Amino acid sequence: MQAAGFRRARRPRQTRMARLKRELSWPRPGGVAISLAGAALVVTGVLALPSEADSLLPFGAAAPAISQSPTTPDTAVAPASPPLPTGPGTTPLAASQQDAEAPFLLSGAGNSLSPLPEVTATPLIAGSAAGSPLQELFASRTAPPMEKALWDINSPARPLVLVNKRHSLLPQRYVPTDLVVPRVLTGSAEHPLLRSEAAAAAERMFAAAAREGINITIKSSYRSYDTQVSVYNGYVAAKGVAAADSTSARPGFSEHQTGFAMDIGDANAGTACDFASCFASTNAAQWVAVYGARYGFVVRYLPGEESVTGYLAEPWHLRYLGVSVAQDMKVRGIHSYEKYAGLPAAPDYK
Ligand code: DAL
Ligand code: ZN
Repeated sequence: MQAAGFRRARRPRQTRMARLKRELSWPRPGGVAISLAGAALVVTGVLALPSEADSLLPFGAAAPAISQSPTTPDTAVAPASPPLPTGPGTTPLAASQQDAEAPFLLSGAGNSLSPLPEVTATPLIAGSAAGSPLQELFASRTAPPMEKALWDINSPARPLVLVNKRHSLLPQRYVPTDLVVPRVLTGSAEHPLLRSEAAAAAERMFAAAAREGINITIKSSYRSYDTQVSVYNGYVAAKGVAAADSTSARPGFSEHQTGFAMDIGDANAGTACDFASCFASTNAAQWVAVYGARYGFVVRYLPGEESVTGYLAEPWHLRYLGVSVAQDMKVRGIHSYEKYAGLPAAPDYK
């Protein structure tokens, strides 16, 4: 163990990156190589799964007051200023509170003496298709009803929420209750905010990349409904509705509003490729494409999936889905959350 660890620690960085690049398939649409690499890493134990609980823990923590801040549009060129470390750090979550969707657990202390019955109603993951990979992943899980009530792709508060042009947030003006500032490098003037679970995962992921010499920055994260109005209208004014719709979500239809999405940059690569297709060639983009799933993140808008996701490829847009789902999507070689949940493509608005 010691010897192996020593060898890894002393491995020259250039060799490390060269090996990483060989493992990559992004941005190839087929993605076969990345799937095989991911599967091989899992089989060999290199990608040992972090705690499954990462993606299954209940939400509903106390809500610190937040102030909304100006944001950077997904495809806008960010200011050329160097990234600055963020200040206050992640606000710790209060102890998880009882979820409102599980009122039966409030029915009396006697519950502790007898196990709660399993929920047998289908679908297992509310909103997903029967037989979908998402349902397969969770079908074998045993969990108390309280936890299963959280497996819902319709609720904007759940990490499994699916958001696309056919599946808006409901309510459309939804605001998360536990946004925190992740302790990561920022690469824009935007004040970064993520849901607490996603923020903790991002901190782990950015730190792991930094140990490899890759300095990921956060360019844009939580955006309110009103901010998305400004962002989207800016695109419409500049490029027209059709072009705007290919790169920017309409208000109420953006993953950024969930607090589970973020746009990243690469501090070492400068800003020339921020929010541009050439970002795919940066070390940061290639690293997250390979290792992001270990921390629960997927590259949400991949090339080859435009007719499914409704958006041009965005190698900078990461979505937190939890470790279990992100890893399973990678191992199965499924490149869109729509397909993984067994839902129809969402190429446009209804
Ligand atoms: N750029 C992505 C689609 C968004 O605006 O949410
Ligand atoms: Zn984005």
